[in-house]
This record gives sequence, C-alpha cells and structure tokens, in this order.
Amino acid sequence: MNVVILAAGMGKRMQSALPKVLHPLAGKPLLQHVIDTALSLEPSRLCVIYGHGGAAVPSAVQAWGGKSGLTIDTALQQPQLGTGHAVMQALPQIDADAPTLVLYGDVPLTTAASLRRLVEAAGSDKLAILTVEQANPFGLGRIVREDGRIVRIVEEKDATEAERAIKEINSGIMVIPTRYLAGWLQALGNDNAQGEYYLTDIVARAVAAGVPVVSAQPSAEWEVAGVNSKVQLAELERRHQLNIATALLERGVTLLDPARIDVRGELLCGRDVTIDVGCVFEGRVALGDGVTIGANCVLVDTSVAAGAQVKPFCHFEGAVVGEQSVIGPYARLRPGTTLGQDVHIGNFVEVKNSTVAAHSKANHLAYVGDADVGARVNIGAGTITCNYDGANKFRTTIEDDAFIGSDSQLVAPVTVGKGATLGAGTTLTKDAPAGKLTISRPKQLTIENWKRPVKVKK
Ligand code: UD1
Ligand code: CA
Repeated sequence: MNVVILAAGMGKRMQSALPKVLHPLAGKPLLQHVIDTALSLEPSRLCVIYGHGGAAVPSAVQAWGGKSGLTIDTALQQPQLGTGHAVMQALPQIDADAPTLVLYGDVPLTTAASLRRLVEAAGSDKLAILTVEQANPFGLGRIVREDGRIVRIVEEKDATEAERAIKEINSGIMVIPTRYLAGWLQALGNDNAQGEYYLTDIVARAVAAGVPVVSAQPSAEWEVAGVNSKVQLAELERRHQLNIATALLERGVTLLDPARIDVRGELLCGRDVTIDVGCVFEGRVALGDGVTIGANCVLVDTSVAAGAQVKPFCHFEGAVVGEQSVIGPYARLRPGTTLGQDVHIGNFVEVKNSTVAAHSKANHLAYVGDADVGARVNIGAGTITCNYDGANKFRTTIEDDAFIGSDSQLVAPVTVGKGATLGAGTTLTKDAPAGKLTISRPKQLTIENWKRPVKVKK
C-alpha cells in the first residue's frame, strides 16, 4: 500500500510562523502523529506533500523516517491548487500496483484500526471513503448517495440547499486504486466555487468508470477532526488527553482527576499507581507498582520503582528512582540521577548526574552534582558539592555511612571516607578519612568583657 499525506496547506488561521503540521499535540507534531499511524500500517511507500514553511517540513520528516527504516518521500506542491493537485505531486513516488491511502497532515487522531477497516473495504479495486454522519456538517464535503450508493462528493461552497442538508461528510481520508489515479487526476478541472482541483471529483469519475465506491466509518467523530486553528488544536489536545486518561483508568491507575493529567509520550504504570492532579509526563516514564505521584509534578524520561512516593511539586528529568524512596515536595532530579532503594530526597534538593545508594538521605536544601553517594549516608541541610571550577567538572565520592554536617561545601574532586563525619560548615578541600570527624571551621571563641557599641550622643 502507498500512503500519501497532504500537508501543503498554509494554516493561516494558526496565526503562527511555524507550519501548521509542525504544531505539537501531546508534545509531538501533528504530522508526526499521522506518520506514526501510517507507519503502523506498514506501507510500502510513504509520501508527504508539503508547501509552506520552506525546508522545515521535509527536514522534520527525514528525521522521523530515519527511525522507521522506511524512506519517507516528500514532494513540494507549489502553488497549492487543491487536494487533487496535491495528490498529483505524489504520483512519481508511488507504486501503481498497490492501493493509495490519502491522509491529511492536520488530522492527527485517526486510529490505525479505523484505517485498517477502510483499507479492507477498498480491497484491491474499490474506492473507499472514510465518512461520518455529523450533526453540524458545515464547511465539509457532502457524500451524495443515490439508492444508497455513493455517486459523488460535493463541497459546501458548490452544494445546493438540498445537498447542504446531507449530514454524511467526507473526512478527506480515502483509499484509491492507484492504477486509475493518474488518469482521474489528469482529467480534473477547476471549474468550481474555489477554482481548485478537487480530489473529491475523482469519486464521480470512479462511478462513471464502473469502479465501485464504498465507505467505512471511524469509531468516533474526533478521529477525523482536523486542526485549522489554535482553538481546534486545544480541543483535540483535550480529547487526546482524555483518551489517554481513560486508558490509564481502565488499566487500573487511580487518577484523582482524569481531566487534569497530561501525557506527552509514553506512561507505563504498574498496579495500584495513584496520580494526583496537575501532573505532566513527557517522553518515556515508567511507574512501578504502588507508586504515588503528588500534585503538580513534571516527570520526563524517568522511572520510579515500586512503592516510591513522589510528593507534590517535583521535577524529574532523566532520573531513576529506587523502590520505596520518598522524594519531595519540591525536589529536582536532573539527568543522570540514579537513586537506590529507600532514598529520601526532600524539599529544595537538586541532584544531578549522581548515584545515591540505599537508605541515604538529603532532606533539605542541598545540591548533589557529579557525586557517588554510598548507602546510609546523611547529607545535612545546605550541603553543596562544588563540582565546577568554572572550567571543568569533578566528582565527589561520599562513602557508606558518612554523615555530612549542615552547610558543608565539598570541593571536588574529593572523597569522604566510609563512616566519616563532617562538622557543620566544613569546606572540604582534601579527602576526609574514614571513621573520623573532619571539621574546617575555626574554633569557637567567646570574648570576655566585650561590650556592644552604643550610639554617640551629639
Ligand atoms: C477537504 C475536502 C472536503 C472534506 C474536507 C475534510 C476537497 C476538495 N475537499 O476540504 O470534502 O470534507 O477536506 O476536512 O478535497 N491541501 C494540500 N494542498 C492543497 C490543498 C489542501 O496539501 O492544495 C491539504 C491541506 O493542508 C489539508 C488537506 O489537504 O491537510 C485538506 O485541505 P483543506 O483546505 O483543509 O480542506 P478542504 O479542501 O476545505
Ligand atoms: Ca481543513
């Protein structure tokens, strides 16, 4: 099968410099949604028709195609003379012996299941149209039937009053027997209200040529909804998020409010996971059995192991959180953070590119960067690893059972030995030996007979 994706329209109503099909829905460009769905149908050829936005669309498409193993072709349509003219640009790229599925780059949520039904209905020699009965069909092409059979499609602007009363609309998505396509497209005229070459006119041609025209329906109306404005983009985003939330609920995840979760990527959940309101998940996020995520957390490319609790207002990116750990509120885990079992990271603690082994704690106001922290370590409030000298970064090693007094600075590269204690306020510039107290602050001093200055009377 060939797939041709129409994406040349300019998207004026988006009021944006970015080509319409590159606007993100759930963090992924509209066109990439369509391409991913198309790829799941394993087409032999895939061609994207682009127009506006210069090289932005083809270069994005090349980047996504690389991952799939299929070369995605692009063809420029300039000027844009209509949907029929757009499909014509793909003719040199497609295989004449296989049917051609036409998709729109601005219709992101069509499911592969619905497309498979359409492809099945088309078989090898029929023209199949994805149609929907719509309460308000305004603006869309209407499916004209005689004795139940499709005879043509008429656009809103060309329709008679009687035709405008038809509720069955053309989604624009169709499967066409490719061997007839070139001939039908060449015969298209543009003598219509918009002066365009309408792809929809091939329907009447098929009927005239005795090629059967059939239809299939998607499971829901939103599957064929297109994006022409930011309002429609926001509506489809909500619909998509609600679909994801519903799927999570059906798999047993507890969502305190399914209308207040955003998944921009893949969220994998074990059993008995609870997610409070206002959380955002990006990239690949995995939550183990019994994990709870507090309100207003953002988790990016992160895994949280079984039984861990994430309290409100945390931000994790590229992190691994161990079983039974307790993180937050207000904790930040940056890329390269790996926390072992039962690690406690509290409020206003930032961890970056560090490993923290089992049962260790940094409960308040600390920066742990480029560090290897052993097991059962206590990192006091206000502790900072000074990992950067302004030019280079160095690692800090804190061995098992060490106790770092509050407000200490560990100037890397430096090692705190096993079971060592650092006194509060230590600026550690040399290794602290195992099992001993190291302290760098001057001895406390009390001045006897000292008096506070008093204001001089003038
Ligand atoms: C088209 C259909 C209409 C259908 C509607 C569904 C035609 C003539 N009409 O309407 O029956 O109900 O879609 O939304 O086909 N595009 C190009 N090049 C062009 C023109 C359009 O690539 O020259 C692309 C657009 O980027 C868009 C898609 O084709 O992705 C549809 O174009 P749009 O103008 O939105 O649809 P209509 O032509 O109004
Ligand atoms: Ca449209």
